[in-house]
Amino acid sequence: MILVTGGAGFIGANFVLDWLAHHDEPVVNLDKLTYAGNLHNLVSLRGDARHIFVQGDIGDAALVGQLLAQHRPRAVVNFAAESHVDRSIHGPEDFIQTNVVGTFRLLESVRGYWVGLDDAARAAFRLLHVSTDEVYGSLEAAAPAFTEQHRYEPNSPYSASKAASDHLVRAWHHTFGLPVLTTNCSNNYGPYHFPEKLIPLMIVNALAGKPLPVYGDGQQIRDWLYVRDHCSAICRVLEAGQLGETYNVGGWNEKPNIEIVHTICMLLDELCPRSDGQSYRAQITYVKDRPGHDRRYAIDARKIERELGWKPAETFETGIRKTVRWYLDNADWVAQVQTGAYRQWVQTQYAEAGAAA
Ligand code: NAD
Ligand code: DAU
Repeated sequence: MILVTGGAGFIGANFVLDWLAHHDEPVVNLDKLTYAGNLHNLVSLRGDARHIFVQGDIGDAALVGQLLAQHRPRAVVNFAAESHVDRSIHGPEDFIQTNVVGTFRLLESVRGYWVGLDDAARAAFRLLHVSTDEVYGSLEAAAPAFTEQHRYEPNSPYSASKAASDHLVRAWHHTFGLPVLTTNCSNNYGPYHFPEKLIPLMIVNALAGKPLPVYGDGQQIRDWLYVRDHCSAICRVLEAGQLGETYNVGGWNEKPNIEIVHTICMLLDELCPRSDGQSYRAQITYVKDRPGHDRRYAIDARKIERELGWKPAETFETGIRKTVRWYLDNADWVAQVQTGAYRQWVQTQYAEAGAAA
């Protein structure tokens, strides 16, 4: 049995689905179901006794303690977080509550459970904390990619809260001996990605005939990894990672945002052409930049490859085509997540940025 937190969100849901496709070991899935958590992502597991879903907060020590005592997992994988940089600029409070206080409470709950295990179970136990490359800050154009030794220089409320959580995880290992592993991954994309983030937002806006809002000059660089490759990296680190170590995860796919948007337009022009014969590129609209916008991220993934033999299976070209296809084939999922709260967010964010969507 493993306990997954945040397993109804984008990466967590992909992880749970992949896990149960490859293992018979059951999963307890603890998720608060914030706006980003969606049980629709897990609908294919309905009736599957290997998946136990519990709605709740990682910061609820009584609930987490009870789940640990009842299910006695051999590992905890922590995906639960507030994850959207723009939302952290509008309202940082939830980020501090979940990413910092929530992680602290989770660590304490897990520590209480772990110290009570027998010697063999205590030695085998793992807590894997899922983190981000954003903790390292922004890179100059010619600087080498982030290694695990790179200084932490978070620039947004989101990345600062994730950096704080990474430090707590590290400290619980050094001080209390808690058997932890941390992964710092680059930008993910793929199925079930909530359409507030660049790639799914561009796909759903394009199909809806809305503006494609590119922040600033569109030359900011992100390093993209197909979500199932991130999930396979997490499984590999859980299986063979060295306790207390951190592993950078990425696919060596640095691309400027505008190139991503052009690629999406090109794929949609091919797979679902506009009725007026024009390219979706006509919808691109440059809008006000994100405050404090990090210019470039890039992950040096040599450690996980060298030490654990992990490599991504998808190239950007294969992954982005699958992703666009998935959104075209899953219009019901898109409609289901576009609730009133979603529309309110888009209205707030993009009216301010200068592209009423
Ligand atoms: P997401 O926002 O799609 O999902 C987060 C999930 O956590 C949601 O299901 C939400 O309901 C749940 N949650 C939020 N607060 C909670 C709480 N207090 N208790 C329990 N559940 C709670 O995020 P994501 O993109 O799937 O990211 C998952 C993790 O991976 C995060 O820790 C994020 O920092 C990290 N990460 C994301 C990316 C990326 O590109 N998306 C890249 C690297 C790392
Ligand atoms: O690097 C890993 C991180 O990637 C994760 O830790 C975060 O949880 C995840 O949200 C993501 O953060 P980014 O800020 O990089 O992702 P986002 O999709 O919000 O934006 C990607 C780039 O696209 C960024 O440079 C901002 C830009 N952008 C984004 C949106 C939503 C636009 O130009 N227009 C937009 O409308």
